[in-house]
Amino acid sequence: MLQNVEIPTNPRQTQPSLFLMATINNNYLKLKAGYLFPEIARRVNSFASSNPEAKVIRLGIGDVTEPLPEACRTAMIKAVEEMGDRSTFQGYGPEQGYAWLREKIAQHDFQSRGCEVDASEVFISDGSKCDCSNILDILGDDNIIAVTDPVYPVYVDTNVMAGHTGEINEKGEFDGLVYLPISAENNFTAQIPTQKVDLIYLCFPNNPTGATATKEHLKAWVDYALANGSIIFFDAAYEAFINDPSIPHSIYEIEGARDCAIEFRSFSKNAGFTGTRCALTVVPKTLKGKAADGSDVELWKLWNRRQSTKFNGVSYIVQRGAEAVYSEKGKSQIKELVNFYMENAKIIREKLTAAGIEVYGGVNAPYVWVKTPNGLSSWDFFDKLLHTCNVVGTPGSGFGAAGEGYFRISAFNSRENVEEAMKRIVENFKV
Ligand code: MLT
Repeated sequence: MLQNVEIPTNPRQTQPSLFLMATINNNYLKLKAGYLFPEIARRVNSFASSNPEAKVIRLGIGDVTEPLPEACRTAMIKAVEEMGDRSTFQGYGPEQGYAWLREKIAQHDFQSRGCEVDASEVFISDGSKCDCSNILDILGDDNIIAVTDPVYPVYVDTNVMAGHTGEINEKGEFDGLVYLPISAENNFTAQIPTQKVDLIYLCFPNNPTGATATKEHLKAWVDYALANGSIIFFDAAYEAFINDPSIPHSIYEIEGARDCAIEFRSFSKNAGFTGTRCALTVVPKTLKGKAADGSDVELWKLWNRRQSTKFNGVSYIVQRGAEAVYSEKGKSQIKELVNFYMENAKIIREKLTAAGIEVYGGVNAPYVWVKTPNGLSSWDFFDKLLHTCNVVGTPGSGFGAAGEGYFRISAFNSRENVEEAMKRIVENFKV
């Protein structure tokens, strides 16, 4: 330890430091022990290591199992070859993504549905999870934030980390957040709040409940946001799984959304990129927030500045793979993949329903939201399922207090595993 060292004063410190040591972000101490999915993995690994003979089937985290589409692989192989040739080699790419990918996305995902999204408003990234966390960088710390309950835990945890909440209460809710309960009674679509909130996280098709939103419901949110100067974070990571043609795929299908919404999308689930990593975020140039001096500032400019400073883009090879999603071959291979997982979802729904278990979702989304049988708590059902059936799912309470008594089953697995898992569950939990 250094003796007699003069400690310089730090203008950011409100009180003299009591410790001769770097301090931490104390907000992390407010979080529950672990992020939901690593916590599940920890329990499953511990079970598997003491039961090495058990054939564990994982229907917990929504991780894809089927190989990358041939169109994407071919494009990536070609890109690797280009990287090995001086004349086609690529160094740093644009931080926002290559124009050829952004243009295809704008055209195929948005303009073809009548959404006014320009390629320059599409930002390519390595994941929606990252983007829906990083977006907080460009927004104030004083915003009132609304999330549904249950909810994808990243929305909550990243706000806790950023210091936007108080402590957690005994129900598992963080002080300072506005929780909007969703349940079978409201078709898992939250009621529009009666109070003013500044930031709203919406996820449709919904993770974890598998619910979808009608145009009317989204319009009510857009109207609310426009009337209250709020911003909607619209997570559309599962839009490819929508079967019903009346359900909107993008928030920008709703008039006025360009002035109040940011949309997140991903290649993870439709094209199997969970390990390959590619996603996109749309920040319309018309979307504004308030600066401290009361002036309006374009959020596009701030996000562009943030990405240029903190991000170096997604690899050329991966972006070429993502581009292939929009080729004729790519489109049909992706449709096949999506249909494959949705057939799994149908099997899960049908087998559990026939066994007298109440299920929701799984029709326009790859998640089935299950009422736990025999009144078991979410984690009790998790443990029972793991120990008696060697099947892994996700406890509903891990998505929020209102998820207690529910359980999420993911349709992302092989047909054989899904059928075997359902057989084991039905045998053990028929009600
Ligand atoms: C989930 O299981 O909820 C998803 O895999 C999480 C994610 O995509 O980050």
